[in-house]
Amino acid sequence: MITFPSKQPFVATTIFTKMSQMASDEGALNLAQGFPSFDCSDALQDLVKFYSKGHNQYSPMAGVPGLKISIAAKTESFYGVSLDAHTEVTVVSGATEAIFASIHCCVFPGDEVIMFDPSYDAYDPIVRLAGGIPIHISLKASNGYKIDWDELARHITPKTKAIMVNSPHNPTGSIWDPSDLDAFANVVKGTQILIVSDEVYEHIVFDGASHASVLLHPELRKRSFVCGSFGKTFHVTGWKMGYCLAPPFLTAEFRKLHQWVTFSSATPLQYALAEYLKDPNNYLSLSSFYQKKRDLFASFFVNSRWKILPSHGSFFQCLDYSAITDEKDVDLADRYTKELKVASIPVSVFYETPPEDKILRFCFAKDDAMLEEAGRKLAAL
Ligand SMILES: Cc1ncc(COP(=O)(O)O)c(C=O)c1O
Repeated sequence: MITFPSKQPFVATTIFTKMSQMASDEGALNLAQGFPSFDCSDALQDLVKFYSKGHNQYSPMAGVPGLKISIAAKTESFYGVSLDAHTEVTVVSGATEAIFASIHCCVFPGDEVIMFDPSYDAYDPIVRLAGGIPIHISLKASNGYKIDWDELARHITPKTKAIMVNSPHNPTGSIWDPSDLDAFANVVKGTQILIVSDEVYEHIVFDGASHASVLLHPELRKRSFVCGSFGKTFHVTGWKMGYCLAPPFLTAEFRKLHQWVTFSSATPLQYALAEYLKDPNNYLSLSSFYQKKRDLFASFFVNSRWKILPSHGSFFQCLDYSAITDEKDVDLADRYTKELKVASIPVSVFYETPPEDKILRFCFAKDDAMLEEAGRKLAAL
């Protein structure tokens, strides 16, 4: 028998795979995993069909030029930030690849990388695989999951190589405002610290807010890998298409990594996205589309025993069930999937040191009928 030591002995199947599998086995409404229950637009599908003719070989390693140009143009019109399409934009196979390549191109064994819990489950193992040391700072529900920038400053050491941030935030739906950018910049100013900024929900912010990208602050931008995902923006999570925006000196190192991970991404999809991105309505309409879904889902809990936590962005709604039961969130998520036939994600799994919170995360990127059925079942508790 061949045996070998696991390189990730503490890593199990992700909670998203586990809960989606359980939802399917139990015939439950899947409000667990973060993907839409509806299709992408016909126009985008038509573009893919069109570009499937004659564009079926490897694309250039950093992406089809037209797509890099479209991404740079979108960044200019949306953020007012101009990027060089050829030296600052790289097309990748999903934001996960962008995060992986960003960390692996700069983190050496023994380097510390700071992240904020609850944190997306890929961050910690990606840092460990690079030999880095993840340093977790816990955010609190009672404080709206706001980052305490002084606390961040206290965690910085001579070994700090990078800081990973995520706004709009999965799983909590919190977002930054411009003052966060200033406060963050004050912490990193004068240091060699790099930033990996996961902005996959950049086009999903609510109530008139605008997304505070690290691109908007020169002190942050000059040291940041910004990771984006077409999957979240165009309802195509299964395509695994994304991008990384970074200054030329970081992009050069990023691409050295990217070429050994995927080398390039699906060529017809890149051509289709290049064209689809040219119409700003295709992403500008997203916030109001999801705000209606957030409001529909939340409306069921107004007069219930659930406490609605604010969701300012992303497509997640966190609900506090402490008035309903004392059970642990991991047990309750399992039980509701089996008994109530509604699947969710327990927020404690996103922490290195889980708090005692009683909070479940629900994804509202679902058909209205599914949100109504789930809302009715949950609100009746
Ligand atoms: C915060 C966050 N980052 C990254 C990803 C991964 O994005 P992609 O599917 O483009 O790899 C997700 C997907 O759920 C996410 O929620």
